[in-house]
Amino acid sequence: METRSQWGTRAGFILAAVGSAVGLGNIWRFPTVAYENGGGAFLIPYLFALLTAGIPLLILEFTIGHKYRGSAPLSYRRMNKKTEFVGWWAVIIAFVISTYYSVIIAWAMSYSVFSFNLNWGSSTGDFLIGDYLQRTVEPGQIGNFVPGVLIPLLLVWIIVLGVLFKGVKKGIEIANRIFIPALVIIFLIIVIRAITLPGAIDGLEAFFTPDFSKIGDPEVWVAAYGQIFFSLSIAFAIMITYSSYLPKKSDITNNAFITGFGNSSFEILAGIGVFGILGFMAMQSGLPVSEVVESGVGLAFIVFPEIINQFPGMNALFGFLFFASLVLAGLTSLMSITETYVAGLVDKFNITRTKAVLFGGGVAALISLLFATQGGLYFLDVADYFINQFGVALMGLIEVVLIAWILRELKNLKEHANGISDIKLGAWWTVCLSVITPIVLGYMMFKLFKLNILREFVGENNTTGNYEGYTDTFILWGGWAVAIGALVVGIILALTKWKK
Ligand code: PHE
Ligand code: NA
Repeated sequence: METRSQWGTRAGFILAAVGSAVGLGNIWRFPTVAYENGGGAFLIPYLFALLTAGIPLLILEFTIGHKYRGSAPLSYRRMNKKTEFVGWWAVIIAFVISTYYSVIIAWAMSYSVFSFNLNWGSSTGDFLIGDYLQRTVEPGQIGNFVPGVLIPLLLVWIIVLGVLFKGVKKGIEIANRIFIPALVIIFLIIVIRAITLPGAIDGLEAFFTPDFSKIGDPEVWVAAYGQIFFSLSIAFAIMITYSSYLPKKSDITNNAFITGFGNSSFEILAGIGVFGILGFMAMQSGLPVSEVVESGVGLAFIVFPEIINQFPGMNALFGFLFFASLVLAGLTSLMSITETYVAGLVDKFNITRTKAVLFGGGVAALISLLFATQGGLYFLDVADYFINQFGVALMGLIEVVLIAWILRELKNLKEHANGISDIKLGAWWTVCLSVITPIVLGYMMFKLFKLNILREFVGENNTTGNYEGYTDTFILWGGWAVAIGALVVGIILALTKWKK
């Protein structure tokens, strides 16, 4: 029965792991997180988080996948029968992420086409929310489908599920071999153009000028850890799944370092590109750079279109390349997220890959349609907020505490990794995972629970109100219900019998 799929080449695995890591988070999340948390000075906590949590956890997940050769639920089960449910939780978080991550890729697809006629420029009001997303309903209301989102969304799923149908070697590996080099080339073109724009230097100065007063602020450290976890796709079952397809003879630690540094290089490059462009925008509008930055969705889908309109020559091409890079980066990440539950279903229910893709991918695609409605953005906001606040750090914390302290598996895993890798793991690896990471993540969770739970349920400190001013009912149904549902479904799946 040992017919588990395998990567064809080492480069194929590394490209797929980098493809998963490099995503929307590198392009629209990192530049603003870094800027808001001290600019150049942010690089210190950021590198600390990369070296003490990011890479050690990446090594941990690569080792688990390679040693236990299973999807996240199966790998956890093989480590200890009672911990299968943790694998399912990670898979379910990945599932939830995939339902809205796909929608943002769909927007980027639309915008890459819009670049050719720049019709966002003719809009008098807010093009994104008004003209494109047609949001005329209240939070919690669904309204009608928005065809401009629905059609590219279906296309996104057709591409991703089509690749997954083909399997690990013929599908995921080949897609990444094409998409990732293409992404690197497009991105280099964008960055080179960006830093040669008039005003770019002011943007770079704003980005890199260190605000050392922020280094002592615990929030900044928390932001650095949050960015590293999201950016490296760790704690979502992804890297366990991908490394379960490694051949027996594979190097683990080396691959983890390449993936970690590859992702961070891309991220810092994105910061340089984005701030070069913002510097140009600031100069055009006569405002300081701090006035033109916006975070997340606003940066890519509101600020960038404005900049593209003012671009000195070839703006259609530049706009197209920018949004195409979001699409490529996003698609390779979405493949990895979706593969976690495809692999989980194949292992648990002993069904074919085709069935697992049809069923798992089909249900995810169906749910994602909710975000392609007039009220979709509200739901997307709440889902993203919950995942970022709780999903990322909490799963990471559960993972390290379980493995380091409850199962006490670090020593075995270290021996496994050292047996096959060039770079040997020393005591630093154990200390990072059993002491430093749990302390930082524990502190993060403590702060978040205090802030959110007290605020929403006990009403303490309600002067700041709910997230984005949404009503209690909407947040309850939108977020907490999904969170609790995920816990229950995870436990039910773990209690379900394995099909031999
Ligand atoms: N790492 C990806 C990024 O930076 C995001 C991602 C998150 C991918 C979760 C998979 C799972 O955008
Ligand atoms: Na990333």
